[in-house]
Amino acid sequence: MNHFISIDQLTNQQIFNLIVNAEKYKKGKNDNIPKQLFAANLFFEPSTRTKMSFAVAERKLGLEVLDFHAEESSIQKGESLFDTVKTFESIGANVAIIRHRSDDWFTELESGINIPIINAGAGKREHPTQCMLDLLTIYEEFGRLEDLNVVIVGDIKHSRVAKSNAHALERLGAKVYLSAAPGYEDESLDYPYVSLDEATQFCDVVMLLRIQHERHEEIYETSSYLTKYGLTIDRERKMKQHAIILHPAPINRGVEIDGDLVECGRSRIFKQMKNGVYMRMAILTHVLNEWGSIDENSIKEC
Ligand code: CP
Repeated sequence: MNHFISIDQLTNQQIFNLIVNAEKYKKGKNDNIPKQLFAANLFFEPSTRTKMSFAVAERKLGLEVLDFHAEESSIQKGESLFDTVKTFESIGANVAIIRHRSDDWFTELESGINIPIINAGAGKREHPTQCMLDLLTIYEEFGRLEDLNVVIVGDIKHSRVAKSNAHALERLGAKVYLSAAPGYEDESLDYPYVSLDEATQFCDVVMLLRIQHERHEEIYETSSYLTKYGLTIDRERKMKQHAIILHPAPINRGVEIDGDLVECGRSRIFKQMKNGVYMRMAILTHVLNEWGSIDENSIKEC
């Protein structure tokens, strides 16, 4: 039984099954898990979208949501991450959704925790549920992932979204390009770098990233970032007719994207957020089923 830690753990078939199941939830499939199960949302880093869309997904599935605020918890008395998660396991949580600033927080949990863990963000390393909702959003748009040109633009070096998405998109047949200002490149990702001016000529998907000041060791000056490296209105006009804009958000309006483009016709940014609920419903039922907490056949359609 696997924890849901990395997109690399999923087979291509599992990725497509999750997309299909998320689409079913989006079309109105209304499952209700017929026994009392508890989901613990353990966020040690700030979050609006991921935390709240997990909460909505859990409630839609009939799970009891155990909310947790690290600043009011026994973490403040020195309790470790392992002991915190073990506590939730002991008091009856059936799944733990965890976000933490460490790149590899899950390594200390993988063998000793006996409930499924879902990675809701690991430092600069992985954000697999964001990746899955991005894949759903792209798939809904084009009906495929193969042979699409996707450019991931921005603060690649500090982005967990970039890493999860680049690996998954490549594996599923998309052509991945990166575009970054000097200092934001990441040597661990072996994809061609292009300027955003070049990328807008041929890319089907422009996936923007937030500049992640909270992870920077030095202060990056961003007053000229939009005009030099960001998605300006001029660059957006040069995008292919059918090309779309993604951004995992939160957004620095006027930095990585002109504020007026956030709600423009080709922006799918708020659709990504909506899709996050349905994809997280699919991921929750996938892991609870794999761990034997539910039997998919016994889930009641309401
Ligand atoms: N995209 C994303 O992870 O947003 P939050 O940090 O608000 O969860």
